[in-house]
Order: sequence, then C-alpha cells, then structure tokens
Amino acid sequence: MHTSLKNKITLVTGVSSGIGREIAQLLAERGARVFGTVRNPKSAKPIPGVEIVRMDVTDDSSVNEAVQGIEQKAGPVQLLVNNAGYSFMGALEETSIEEARQQFETNLFGVLRVTNSVLPGMRQQGYGRIVNISSVLGFLPAPYMGIYVASKHAVDRAGRPRIAHRAEYSSASLRQQLRDFPTNAGGNSGDQCDFVF
Ligand SMILES: NC(=O)c1ccc[n+]([C@@H]2O[C@H](COP(=O)([O-])OP(=O)(O)OC[C@H]3O[C@@H](n4cnc5c(N)ncnc54)[C@H](OP(=O)(O)O)[C@@H]3O)[C@@H](O)[C@H]2O)c1
Repeated sequence: MHTSLKNKITLVTGVSSGIGREIAQLLAERGARVFGTVRNPKSAKPIPGVEIVRMDVTDDSSVNEAVQGIEQKAGPVQLLVNNAGYSFMGALEETSIEEARQQFETNLFGVLRVTNSVLPGMRQQGYGRIVNISSVLGFLPAPYMGIYVASKHAVDRAGRPRIAHRAEYSSASLRQQLRDFPTNAGGNSGDQCDFVF
C-alpha cells in the first residue's frame, strides 16, 4: 500500500499490549495521528503520540461513542486497523456455546462493528484504508484451536467481498495473516513483532 501516513487519522483497536501496541506506536512514529483503543483507560500504559480511547468491540454503543468522539475531535477515520482479538484454546467438545459465542463476538463481530462505524465517514471523504489482523490459523488449522481458527477464517472470508464493494468509495481493505508473536494472546514463543507500513 503506497500511502503517505502523514497526519492520517488512524484508529487501531486493542493497543494495551502486543501487536496492536506495536502497530500504534509505529504508525505514530511515521507521522499518523493515531487513536488507540483499550477497554480500561485507567490501567493503560501511555504510548508516545497515541491518543487513548475507551472501546469494547463487543458493545455497539461503546464502539459508536468512541468513533463519534474521534470524528468530532479529528474528522473521519482514514485508516482503520482491526487488531483487537484473543485466541480461545480448547477441544471443541469441551467448549461451551457461550465461550464460542464470545470468541466470535470479539474476533468477527467486533471487526464488523468497528468497520461499519467508520465506513460512513470514509464514504463521506471518499477515502479509506482498512487492515484486518487475521491469523495464519485462519487457513492452517491447529489442534485445540477450532473456534479461534473459525473466527479468523470468518474474518478473512468476510473481508474479501468488501474489497470489491468498497472500490467505488476509493477504500481498500487488506488482511494480515500473522503467526506466533510473543504477546499475551500468542504465548511466549515465536518471532519479534516487525511491521512495515
Ligand atoms: N500473537 C500472535 O502470534 C498472533 C498471531 C496471529 C494473529 N494474532 C492476532 O493479533 C491480534 C492481537 O493479538 P496479540 O497477540 O497482540 O494479543 P494481546 O497482546 O492479548 O492483545 C490483544 C488486544 O486486544 C484487545 N481486546 C481483546 N478483547 C477486546 C474487546 N472485547 N474489545 C476491545 N479490545 C479487546 C486487548 O485489549 P484490552 O486491554 O482491553 O484487553 C488487547 O489490547 C489478535 O486479533 C490476534 O488474534 C496474533
């Protein structure tokens, strides 16, 4: 994506730790105006150049309030990074419907909620970029991670038609299929986070 980040109004979900935190910090260093979301601002560690916003991606009103607040302060979001998510582990037969529902509520419906909340602003300005943080497990299943795998596969598949739909609004959508970063969600094995925008 050859896009200048200078002063781009950017929203990154889930910046309290891990990949989202790294992305938010990197985008701010590259000159974007970054709003980063956390569920509990009181315990959030500041990130230089990043404005912290409260958002729970499983809650319609929390998402809409956060996006409206950003739009009032800075204007429509131009770059959205849908990062917030977690990986649920467990054998399918031992996974309750409520646990599975919560995984989808965050990893899939959270992405849809935040995306649908910023799209009117993107349409209005005739520009938008959306990055969905998916997982290599979205297409390479791993044992005891069936529900997580299903949620990430769903994010991948849901994003594809959107790429075509949104072309008319000069928006583009990109998915990043990541694996094994040493974050809270991914455990302590794997590679260092290293993103290039
Ligand atoms: N680590 C890996 O190897 C790996 C590989 C592939 C994909 N991923 C994906 O990368 C993304 C980030 O994961 P991570 O490894 O960086 O994990 P992490 O360190 O646990 O970070 C997850 C972030 O998501 C936020 N979050 C979780 N549930 C939320 C909700 N309901 N509403 C709003 N925010 C919520 C958390 O915020 P709070 O502080 O509010 O809890 C946290 O900031 C996830 O989508 C994950 O599936 C990770």
